[in-house]
Amino acid sequence: MKRENMTIVHQERIAENIYAMTLTGDLVAEMNRPGQFVHIKITPQADPLLRRPLSLCHIDKEASQCTIIYRKEGMGTTLLSQKRPGETVDVLGPLGNGFPLDVIKAGQTALIVGGGIGVPPLYELSKQLVKKGISVIHVLGFQSKDVMFYENEFVKLGETYVATVDGSCGTKGFVTDVIAERSIFFDVLYACGPKPMLKALERAFPHKEVYLSLEERMGCGIGACFACVCRVSNSKTAYKKVCSDGPVFKAGEVVL
Ligand code: FES
Repeated sequence: MKRENMTIVHQERIAENIYAMTLTGDLVAEMNRPGQFVHIKITPQADPLLRRPLSLCHIDKEASQCTIIYRKEGMGTTLLSQKRPGETVDVLGPLGNGFPLDVIKAGQTALIVGGGIGVPPLYELSKQLVKKGISVIHVLGFQSKDVMFYENEFVKLGETYVATVDGSCGTKGFVTDVIAERSIFFDVLYACGPKPMLKALERAFPHKEVYLSLEERMGCGIGACFACVCRVSNSKTAYKKVCSDGPVFKAGEVVL
């Protein structure tokens, strides 16, 4: 983990209130595992005080660039969306444990399921799995077509299905509806998105190898403040920290 003032190379609105920002800096050399995140301090001033945890969507080591995708929803991300190329942001990272790649072999199939702003880290995951010779099937869920992003990028990597809650694109409903209607076969499932989606996947595949990346409010991002704790399954007292023990957990490891 390092801290660096990374320079913004590109910033673009890619869907309603969804922005993609590409950053460059030495920190990219540290970024390896899909599912890890960076903690960004948007302004040097005290307000907004906290950093924002944002997952890595795309890592380009050759160009020393990484891309993050975020939703503009509060003061911090609104300020972030107003930043322009050439400006810098204070970045701490990479943080957390990402998705395990050694649990699947070349020739096997990974089902990759994302919901809303949980989709970005799955792009880097899918790229790395494809590089290892693994077949990927993506199921991406969004509220509507207006907030949908990156479906074409996923299509380039493998079979891709979309679900929208309002039916404006793909299957009307949820990612679980797509999986049920297509009877998708897979060896390992990787997912990131809202808790109800993760719970539904955990319930649907109790005997499969499933890895879930949790979205949680964070403070320090480095395991020091306890803002992100979740309970360990089958224990009344044990807990794990999403920022440093996660954000990726094996299904059944923690209470969702
Ligand atoms: Fe501080 Fe996780 S955010 S312990």
